[in-house]
Amino acid sequence: MTRKLLMHVGPVTIDYDVLVAGLRGDTGFTSQEFIDAMSFSLKYLRRLMGADETYQPFIIPGGGTSAMESVASVLRRGDKVLVVSNGVFGDRWKAIFNRYPVAVDIIKANPGEYVKPEEVEEKVSEEKYTLVAMTHVETSTGVREPIQEVTKRIRDKVDLIAVDGVSSVGAETVKAKDYQVDIYLTASQKAIGVPPGAGLLVLSERAVSRLSDESVAGYYLNLKNWIDVMRNLEEGKGSYFATLPVHLIFMLSKAFELMEKEGLENRIKRHEKVAKGIRAGIESMGLDIVAKRPEAYSNTVTGVLLKKANAGDVLREVISEGLELAPGVHPALAGKYFRIGHMGWVNPNDVITTIAVLERVLKRLGEPVNVGEGVRAVQLTYS
Ligand SMILES: Cc1ncc(COP(=O)(O)O)c(C=O)c1O
Repeated sequence: MTRKLLMHVGPVTIDYDVLVAGLRGDTGFTSQEFIDAMSFSLKYLRRLMGADETYQPFIIPGGGTSAMESVASVLRRGDKVLVVSNGVFGDRWKAIFNRYPVAVDIIKANPGEYVKPEEVEEKVSEEKYTLVAMTHVETSTGVREPIQEVTKRIRDKVDLIAVDGVSSVGAETVKAKDYQVDIYLTASQKAIGVPPGAGLLVLSERAVSRLSDESVAGYYLNLKNWIDVMRNLEEGKGSYFATLPVHLIFMLSKAFELMEKEGLENRIKRHEKVAKGIRAGIESMGLDIVAKRPEAYSNTVTGVLLKKANAGDVLREVISEGLELAPGVHPALAGKYFRIGHMGWVNPNDVITTIAVLERVLKRLGEPVNVGEGVRAVQLTYS
């Protein structure tokens, strides 16, 4: 089988024009083309995040984790951080902050659930936190946190709010300014649909004012070291602190151009439509979704629970049928589920193929599924 459909949680399928945009053999970081690509990408990043001119955009090397770790730039020794965790990537916030001289508390949801806004409100009412860190869509379970409601309840009680939008930005409604989020971050390889290699984030004025020599951050991911580079590049001036992923930035800039053409709202609606088809197919073939509450279903990731078959076998078998899915990574559900990633350049035809392959593979592996019912449900969803 040579052709493959990649329905993964990142990297995702990359649009051909995006891929080709990175093919440059003679372009350095001082070239005008690169400076222009950075300038455009930084400006577009503000729009993508629902931020305005008061927010400072950053594009740094790495990915989701480098963007998360760079958040330490706004912390000082002895600060208190509250982590709101719905799974593996929420827990990652805690693992990161534990490496710094700050105090970290965590509120955790059971797998498939999300921490309720009132629980976060209660916690920040009991204690004063410098920073609350959350995850918009928890990729390990496909659960979406109601960010707007949480921020409404806690905004006046905490100094800073950071949101990991790695599996949401570009596919879910993201409004950093309206929700008064101080730091919204993402990575290049998810719903933006670019290869891995860059972390993208915006900082509010309040967050920028916390960048200082007293920060607990190290050197490379200290945003104080990057801010002048970002400002210069946005203004069209070459600038260097450490080398940026130059070729990837050309791909990012092309992806942003295509997003601008599609329109952000249309892009979010397309993701909603694809996610709806995936869920209709999965439920109609007789399987359950990891996310327990419909209001928390995400546009980007669907976890699928298995009754009999082993998840590793399912992943191996679907690959032999030309479909690549993502493993389940939540330790509490190890071996019992897999994930379908539906973000980036996905469309309803990808949904039909995914559900059709799953039906026949699962039947072969002895999973009790209604073959044909999933595909039928997808067709009815889209007709
Ligand atoms: C929600 C979330 N946060 C953070 C990360 C880490 O990103 P990266 O693997 O690019 O470092 C991921 C990766 O899948 C993620 O899904």
